[in-house]
Amino acid sequence: MTRLLIRDLVQLATPAGAHAPLRRGELGDVEVIENAFLVARDGWIEAVGAMRDLPALAGDVQEFDGRGLCAVPGLVDCHTHPAFVGDRAHEFALRAAGASYGELLAAGGGILSTMRATRAAGGGALVEAVVRHRDAMLAHGTTTFEGKSGYGLDHDTELAQLEAVRAAGGVPTWLGAHAVAPEHTGADEYVDWLIEDVLPDAARIATAADVFVERETFGVDQARRYLVACRAAGLDLRIHGDQLTEMGAVPLAVELGARSIDHLEATGRAGVAQLASSDVVAVLLPVAALYLARPMPPARALADAGAAIALATDFNPGSAYCESLPVVCTLACTQLGLTPEEALVACTVNAAYVLGLDRNRGRLAAGHRADVVLLDAPDWRHLAYHLAGNVVHTVVQEGRIAFLRA
Ligand code: NIG
Ligand code: FE
Repeated sequence: MTRLLIRDLVQLATPAGAHAPLRRGELGDVEVIENAFLVARDGWIEAVGAMRDLPALAGDVQEFDGRGLCAVPGLVDCHTHPAFVGDRAHEFALRAAGASYGELLAAGGGILSTMRATRAAGGGALVEAVVRHRDAMLAHGTTTFEGKSGYGLDHDTELAQLEAVRAAGGVPTWLGAHAVAPEHTGADEYVDWLIEDVLPDAARIATAADVFVERETFGVDQARRYLVACRAAGLDLRIHGDQLTEMGAVPLAVELGARSIDHLEATGRAGVAQLASSDVVAVLLPVAALYLARPMPPARALADAGAAIALATDFNPGSAYCESLPVVCTLACTQLGLTPEEALVACTVNAAYVLGLDRNRGRLAAGHRADVVLLDAPDWRHLAYHLAGNVVHTVVQEGRIAFLRA
C-alpha cells in the first residue's frame, strides 16, 4: 500500500472545524499551518501537520517536494453547465454591441440556441464536451464539479446530458426547467410534460433538480409545481433566482427548503433577511454578474446577516464562459467584499455542503478525500490575489496527481 507524502510546503490552508456550512463568525475560519506536510493513503488524507511533527512512515512512500508551494483543498464548483455543444461567440459580440441577455433569449437565441446545437450533437459528443470542460476546470484546481442539464429540453437529450456529467465524474443536476422547449405551447404545459415524461428517468441519474425563475422562463407557481414533484422523486432542490428580476424566488426557496438559491444579483434587503434566517445556501456567481454587466449580488450583506454562502463559476456558454474558481475568488475579494478566507471556505467546504458532500470533501483533514491544490505561491492567498494568474501548480485528486502544470 503506497502512501503519498507532500512535504516541506510553505503553507497548508484549510477551512477550520468539522461541520458545514460555515456561516457568521465561522465563515472566515481558515487554519494555516506553516512549513507543512500532508500524507495520503489509498486516496484519503491520513494526516496533515507541521514538518517538525512528521511521523516516521513505514512501507512504500511516494514523496512530493512541496518547497515553494502552498496547499489548499481541492476546489468544489457547485454550479456549472458543462454539457453543451457549440458556442455563443456571435451573441457575445451582439451583447458587446448593446443587445441584452434577456432580449436574445426572448428572440429564440441564448439558451435555445445552445439547445439546438446540443440536440444535434448526440451522446458521444456530449461526453467528450463534458470531459474537456472538466479537464479545464481541473487545471484551475476544481476536483469536484456539479454539472446541470438544461440544453436538451427534450427527454433523450436531457438524459444524455445527465449521463455525460456522471460519466465525467461530476454531480448531475437536472435543469429540465431551464427554458420552455419550442415544441411546447407554454410554460405550464411544458412543466406538466417534464413532470410526467422526464422526471421519473432524470431522478434515477440526478441528485438535484434546478429551475430558472425569470420573466422569459418560469414563474414562481410553475417553479413550485416542478420542484414539489422533484422533491417527491427524491431530488434535492436548487433554484436559479433573482438573476435579472426579483420575482419571489427567495421566498419559494425558503418555503420548499431548497438546498440553494443561486445568482441573487437582483435580491433586495428583504430577500437577504429571509435567506439569513433559513438554511438555504446563497450561491454567488460573480462571473455571471461581470459577464452580463449586472450588479454584483449582495454577498457582504448576506454574510453579515448570517446567511450560508457558497461561490461557483456558473460555467456556461452564454453568461459565464469561465472555468476558473481562482478568478471567482478574486472577484469575491474585489467585488463582493469577501476576505480571501471567506472566499476559500465558500468554494470548498460550503460548496461541498451544497452538493451533500461536505462529510469528506472541502477540507485538508484526516478522513477527507485526498483532493489537494498546490499553488505556486509564497502565500495561499495568491489563490485570490493573482488575478487570472497561473497559480495552480499541481492538482491531486483522490491521492493521485491528476494535473501537473507544464
Ligand atoms: O446560470 N440563467 C440561466 N442559466 C445560465 C445561463 C445559461 C445560458 O445562457 O446558456 C446561468 O447564467
Ligand atoms: Fe447557472
